[in-house]
Amino acid sequence: MKQRIPLIAGNWKMHGRLVANTFLLSELKSGIQNLGLDINSKSCVAKVDVAVCIPFPYLAQAQSELQSSSVRWGAQDVSMQAEGAYTGEVSAAMLNDFSCAYAIVGHSERRQYHAESDTMVGEKARRLLDAGIIPIVCVGETLQQRKDNLTEVTVARQLNSVLSAIEDSALSKIVVAYEPIWAIGTGVTATPEMAQQVHAFLREQLIVKNAELAEQVKILYGGSMKPDNAASLLSMKDIDGGLIGGASLKSADFLSIIAAARLAV
Ligand code: PGA
Repeated sequence: MKQRIPLIAGNWKMHGRLVANTFLLSELKSGIQNLGLDINSKSCVAKVDVAVCIPFPYLAQAQSELQSSSVRWGAQDVSMQAEGAYTGEVSAAMLNDFSCAYAIVGHSERRQYHAESDTMVGEKARRLLDAGIIPIVCVGETLQQRKDNLTEVTVARQLNSVLSAIEDSALSKIVVAYEPIWAIGTGVTATPEMAQQVHAFLREQLIVKNAELAEQVKILYGGSMKPDNAASLLSMKDIDGGLIGGASLKSADFLSIIAAARLAV
């Protein structure tokens, strides 16, 4: 029996167009209804939270197409500033205008291509919490760091910089995503045991802050989660869902991961 309701969140990255999105979202909605997961459906048998994190320009589309369903939507980043002369940035308040439930912060692609530091990621998480949006805080090590036995040091540093930027009482309002960089988009996945080990370690870091709230925090696994490996990953004690890149762009794959999460409940 899972202690926490699993969350399956899609990370579309820079994919999607208006027409294709409508198609994907409607397949997702009807697929979820068929799984009996729709909150509006009387046959709802088990709870899995489902969300899609999509490019900014399509948030209005997601809002209008998903608002009557149980699928939530969110962004893939947010500005660390509240408002002002920051060309190209999008604030947490703006995300709020489109009823975003989530926003990803600290994804390794942002850390790598946009030089986002741990401090910036902490600030972004704080802005989101202030706006009532759940930050999905990504942490993860490179292959070299794993080889050098630096996995725990790396993820602890990344997580703790967020924990020190937010109020202790907000702990239960964040989601953590463990995404080993060497597994993202590569088809190589951490084994369930490898992932569980890091998830348990992350849980210990949260417990240091507040033992009771730490038990409520969902820790997702991300990095080539697919229909054929989802069930074994999701069966692990501290793996509370997935942050899904490539497989979230195909409704059949995404739905089958959601189905696996339902069975893990
Ligand atoms: P992937 O991406 O599932 O394509 O490996 C996961 C992510 O980057 O969030």
